[in-house]
Amino acid sequence: MMAQGISGLMRPLLGGLNVSKIRFIYPCGMTEQRHTPAKQWSKRGFSVTRKLQDAPGESSSADQVTVHFVNRNGERLTAMAKEGESLLEVVVNQNLAIDGFGACEGTLACSTCHLIFEKDTFQKLDAISDEELDMLDLAYGLTETSRLGCQVCIKKSMDGLTVRVPADVSDVRRQLEVGKQSKQ
Ligand code: FES
Repeated sequence: MMAQGISGLMRPLLGGLNVSKIRFIYPCGMTEQRHTPAKQWSKRGFSVTRKLQDAPGESSSADQVTVHFVNRNGERLTAMAKEGESLLEVVVNQNLAIDGFGACEGTLACSTCHLIFEKDTFQKLDAISDEELDMLDLAYGLTETSRLGCQVCIKKSMDGLTVRVPADVSDVRRQLEVGKQSKQ
């Protein structure tokens, strides 16, 4: 995709810049207007999220899919997702309490959206891009069924999906920052 190609070329140039306002990658075929507004992201913090209980009344909607996240402490968070949303957007839009998740807002620059899938589900996911593979290489606790939540799009067939949040999280941008400082 053109947007992803541009992103891949631009990433080396973005080192050290605040990329929070820059968004090139729309893995679920979204336009800029459909993507999560920056305002919503800015409200998201480490301690202001809440556990989402089963959403009563919403599960009957034809285009909604139930997704379960098993958090680092073993807590199960359940969300109703819309077809076409990325798993990152599900976490943000439903305000799920997963600390530090999606720090780069889906620009493929952090790997904090690392999720572990069940084997059967993993095999049915869309192909992984080179950019996602590069970023996964830098994630902690990588498994054979790891993907980045910002790059996996919800489909109807995923109803009942369960994904696990790895125990440790790494924000590649912080590692790069620490590396720069230690060289000074
Ligand atoms: Fe940063 Fe997915 S949110 S790589």
